[in-house]
Amino acid sequence: MRVIGIESSCDETAVAVYDAARGLLSHRLYSQIALHRPYGGVVPELASRDHLRRLLPLLREALDESKSERDSIDAIAYTAGPGLSGALIVGAGFAASLAYAWGKPALAIHHLEGHLLAPLLEPNAPQFPFLALLVSGGHTQLVDVASLGHYEILGESLDDAAGEAFDKTAKLMGLPYPGGAQLAELAEKGRRGQFVFPRPMLDRPGLEFSFSGLKTAALVALRGRVLDDQIRADVAFAFQEAVVDTLAEKCRRALQLTGRCRLVVAGGVGANRRLRIKLAQTAEANGAQLFFPRPEFCTDNGAMIALAGCMRMAAGLAAKAGAGAGVGVVTRSRSFAARAKWNLADVASPMG
Ligand code: KG4
Ligand code: ZN
Repeated sequence: MRVIGIESSCDETAVAVYDAARGLLSHRLYSQIALHRPYGGVVPELASRDHLRRLLPLLREALDESKSERDSIDAIAYTAGPGLSGALIVGAGFAASLAYAWGKPALAIHHLEGHLLAPLLEPNAPQFPFLALLVSGGHTQLVDVASLGHYEILGESLDDAAGEAFDKTAKLMGLPYPGGAQLAELAEKGRRGQFVFPRPMLDRPGLEFSFSGLKTAALVALRGRVLDDQIRADVAFAFQEAVVDTLAEKCRRALQLTGRCRLVVAGGVGANRRLRIKLAQTAEANGAQLFFPRPEFCTDNGAMIALAGCMRMAAGLAAKAGAGAGVGVVTRSRSFAARAKWNLADVASPMG
């Protein structure tokens, strides 16, 4: 079985081809970072237009690289949500058109399901069930993954997502968009103990997160100082430690609560080196194994969507994964699904 994956939910356009027997055959990605950088953040209208420009060339490249002809493709999977409406509609419309023209099924995939399955692209893939920490620009969630399509949200952020907190703090420190990775790089040169930021929500039980106060802590630390590179690095270090400590402690609690012995970290912030080190320690101390995708599959990509599509096709879940709006459903009709908001816990249940 061979599936094309199409991702266009935010500021990356990506196309991949995944084969159930041979694994990932091709993945192509175009990042819009340079396009949005002058504006300090993603401009939705520009994102949509650029997805439209990039999708067809990327598809051609992915088909060439994977040596896939039309007949060898079994389905077209695409990100149906959550994400930016216009950006989603471009990818979904493109995927559904291709599927219709080729007479193949189109498969609407939840973006976060793609993220949490991304570690399965690696040779050392986790088995179900597992606990997943999803840390992206738009979401911070602890998810109990019983099996494909069975997701229980154990806790999530009450305000900013972890990636959003990284990006906002980076911005107020004068780092260019998208900031998160640059803030992490700056933190590598920071000194421990120069600044200490609060660990939000650790003083009470539960698995919720709150990160919006940390950018204020960074602002207060920076205010009224003559900023040199070392002080900026020290603030970045303190910020990163606060986020990473908080995520690790919530993972520890969730491992204890669920008794799961596998911990998966996925989403853009999963590329953070310090977080990986800290989570490896947490997992080991709690008798669990840690799994994460390589950094390029932590951030948005088409490979995770192709994989999710292939797994859903193979499991035969697709046919019963949704209804009504066509979300999660295999369709040969001309309709397609795009949902800016879509709860991961609803992914396998009928909708309409
Ligand atoms: O999963 P993703 O590519 O897109 C969403 O679905 O949101 O995540 C992007 C987020 C951004 O907020 C970005 O700043 C953050 O991931 N990010 C990082 C690192 N690399 C990307 N945050 C911290 N450390 C990193 N190394
Ligand atoms: Zn994402």
